[in-house]
Amino acid sequence: MKFRSFVCIIALGTTIALPTFAQDNPAIGQRQGQFKLFVHNFGLLGGMAQGRIDYDADMAQLAADNLFYLTRHDQSRLWPEGTDSASVSGTRANPAIWENLDDFVAKFGALQTAAEGLQQVAGGGLDAMRAGFGPVGQSCQACHEAYRDEAS
Ligand code: HEC
Repeated sequence: MKFRSFVCIIALGTTIALPTFAQDNPAIGQRQGQFKLFVHNFGLLGGMAQGRIDYDADMAQLAADNLFYLTRHDQSRLWPEGTDSASVSGTRANPAIWENLDDFVAKFGALQTAAEGLQQVAGGGLDAMRAGFGPVGQSCQACHEAYRDEAS
């Protein structure tokens, strides 16, 4: 093979194979969709906790049940290497996640524990729901402060 055509083939292979894979990784949109569903439930409970929405025991319990089950979704395929905000666009996942995976997993575990606590009290009156809601909000915030980039 002539040297020039060899170089051409290499160049073609590189442009097609490498960068597009990382940017199109469906896991990014999928994990963002998961967080949108968190907010779908968390937002209703937060509205009740702050008095913007009338407390309704059945609705609160349903939202807390949803949040409990959503936080049980296995995370192992949602955070592939190379899907951090320094490597690809369209994500706010800070590269520090992959440097501190144990801590990231522990912070997700704190959310799971808090969501379980909320599930146990959400239908038991506004004050009980509020008490269970606080730790959930704190667990969201703790992880965002450490591992989510500011919105651009
Ligand atoms: C263990 C870490 C962690 C926990 C706990 C966590 N988040 Fe996040 N969240 C992230 C990261 C990282 C992103 C950025 C994901 C991306 O852009 O790829 C994110 C993104 C989001 C987004 C933006 C989604 C989008 O449309 O792009 C929302 C909304 C959100 N989180 C809400 C919540 C709520 C509500 C909770 C608690 C009930 C929560 N998160 C708990 C780490 C976490």
